[in-house]
Amino acid sequence: MNSFAFIIHPLDPKRDVARKYPLLGKLLPEAAIHFLSRFWPPLKISHVTGARSEATGETIEGWLIAVPYTAQRMLHLPTKEVYRKIVAAGHLAEALGADILGLGAYTSVVGDAGITIARELEIPVTTGDSYTAALAVQAGCQAARWMELSLDKGIVAVVGATGAIGGVVAQMMAPRCRRLLLVGRRRERLEAVAERVRAHGSAQVRTTTEIAAIREADLIFTVTSSGGNLLRSEYLRPGVVVCDVSRPRDVSEHLARERDDVLVIDGGLVRVPGEVDFGFDYGPPPQLTFGCVAETMALTFEHRFEDYTVGRDLRLEQVQEIDRMAAKHGFRLAALRSFEREVDMATIQRVKKRARELLRRSAGGTL
Ligand SMILES: NC(=O)c1ccc[n+]([C@@H]2O[C@H](COP(=O)([O-])OP(=O)(O)OC[C@H]3O[C@@H](n4cnc5c(N)ncnc54)[C@H](OP(=O)(O)O)[C@@H]3O)[C@@H](O)[C@H]2O)c1
Repeated sequence: MNSFAFIIHPLDPKRDVARKYPLLGKLLPEAAIHFLSRFWPPLKISHVTGARSEATGETIEGWLIAVPYTAQRMLHLPTKEVYRKIVAAGHLAEALGADILGLGAYTSVVGDAGITIARELEIPVTTGDSYTAALAVQAGCQAARWMELSLDKGIVAVVGATGAIGGVVAQMMAPRCRRLLLVGRRRERLEAVAERVRAHGSAQVRTTTEIAAIREADLIFTVTSSGGNLLRSEYLRPGVVVCDVSRPRDVSEHLARERDDVLVIDGGLVRVPGEVDFGFDYGPPPQLTFGCVAETMALTFEHRFEDYTVGRDLRLEQVQEIDRMAAKHGFRLAALRSFEREVDMATIQRVKKRARELLRRSAGGTL
């Protein structure tokens, strides 16, 4: 049977450690988890079974493997040390017999985004960023439609536009909006991304290193490696849709709850074809998964055992190809979610009503 392995790691240290070791998660303070994560070896977390292609009827299997670094640890440790543990996890995947390895969350962000790791391993590697980008755009556009935002007259912001996912999301959004705002930390790199984006669409493209500028946006994609909680309440205008792809998240749950006039959605989850059992609660509800996991699984169904998405220069053609491939095998965008809970029409109506009230009041000078 063809198979894959996928690397996960703790994002919310206490919650995620408790998923595997309930007692340790309860007893250890967060600082101790960050510290100890450096010394914990990679480990097999679960056996994934039951995924079946709608196109070929083929069943695949897989393994979730944990690299026990927290995101914060990966951001601050020497890159070589982080690579060593990811490569060790890759060797574990090889020993299990996996045909391809997917890099989850920060293991795909660290250093050169998978290039060095792919070079060190026998099996091919993908970050899953191509399909993640495709799903983020689908989810963001669907949420904008539900909120009745006319993107062809509106402003879309991409925070982290200099990154792998951000750059290609910007390319995909350019033909769909009137103005595109690219936000990053490095001006030169932002200009290079803007050049490429201009070639892909008719939107006016502006770059900025001032994140507060997203206050003018109708739809925001946030795809950074900031380490979490980057977006502040004052950056969000009433009625805005924020598609938060970043893990750890750029929008805190507290902020989303406080701002009942904005819609914050998760970056796009997919339904896996067949009766998949991931054998472990790593975040998404049963039967659903993240784009990066789905990309690894779709490549396995397709027998495309090659380094697929590695590095930061994602190609639009490749994003479109993996989107087609995943659709062919039966992966489907799941219902929109916000902090892993399904968003229903009643919520959308409430957000719209609240945003209208605030806008009316501010126009009347009471805000
Ligand atoms: N939801 C999912 O299924 C899924 C799947 C894969 C990845 N992800 C997440 O998506 C995010 C992006 O991944 P990626 O592969 O595109 O990473 P990446 O290539 O490293 O890009 C991240 C970008 O964020 C920028 N950034 C960091 N801090 C910032 C700040 N304070 N303000 C503005 N920009 C900032 C970085 O800028 P510099 O270039 O200046 O450092 C970089 O360009 C990560 O959080 C990752 O965990 C989610």
